[in-house]
Amino acid sequence: MITFALPKGRLAEKSAELLAACGVDTAVLAEDTRKLVLESGDKAYRFFLVKPADVPVYVESGVADLGIVGKDTLIEEGRDLYEMLDLKMGECRLCIAGYPERKDVLTNAHLRVATKYVNTAKKVFAGRGEEIEIIPLHGSIELAPVTGLADVILDVVQTGSTLKANGLVVLEEIFTGITARLVANKVSLKTKAADILPLIGKLKEVLG
Ligand code: PRP
Repeated sequence: MITFALPKGRLAEKSAELLAACGVDTAVLAEDTRKLVLESGDKAYRFFLVKPADVPVYVESGVADLGIVGKDTLIEEGRDLYEMLDLKMGECRLCIAGYPERKDVLTNAHLRVATKYVNTAKKVFAGRGEEIEIIPLHGSIELAPVTGLADVILDVVQTGSTLKANGLVVLEEIFTGITARLVANKVSLKTKAADILPLIGKLKEVLG
């Protein structure tokens, strides 16, 4: 049996579709349930439904053999696991954003940056200003500059509609090509190679 950490939220449906296209019995993922552990009908897969940011910790620990997670989360978490495949879905960019008329804000001596990506922000802003204040938030990051909590945000931008709806713009692109990735536990890749490698082969075929 392969255990799979799957992200809840915006990648959930696409992840299930991709696995189904590879012949994985994902019918159980369509059920309206609060259960967090689900098993495929043929018992070949066990699915853990986790917060996207928690996928790497499940895979690094070996509790899950495989996981699907955004590259943004992998950069932020820096976990010891194998990144196996670019699943080419959920594409977005990691950007610094703020008010267009205040582009010079980036040179502020004391810049306040709101973000979910605290580790990444520390690296991105290292050496940029005398005093960078990172303001950790868990969501609705765009609200921070709007309310005056922060000067700018470091966040992912997909369609750009959240920025636009809140009067903000991209000030600087940090990473482009942020997509969902298949990750594997290092030990599982050896001990369950006979199960995992054919699935990876199938994924490659489906992704083209
Ligand atoms: C993410 C991100 C932005 C938004 C970008 O938040 O933090 O707020 O999506 O997408 P867009 O460019 O297509 O508008 P998410 O919707 O995942 O929820 P959150 O605010 O709870 O983090």
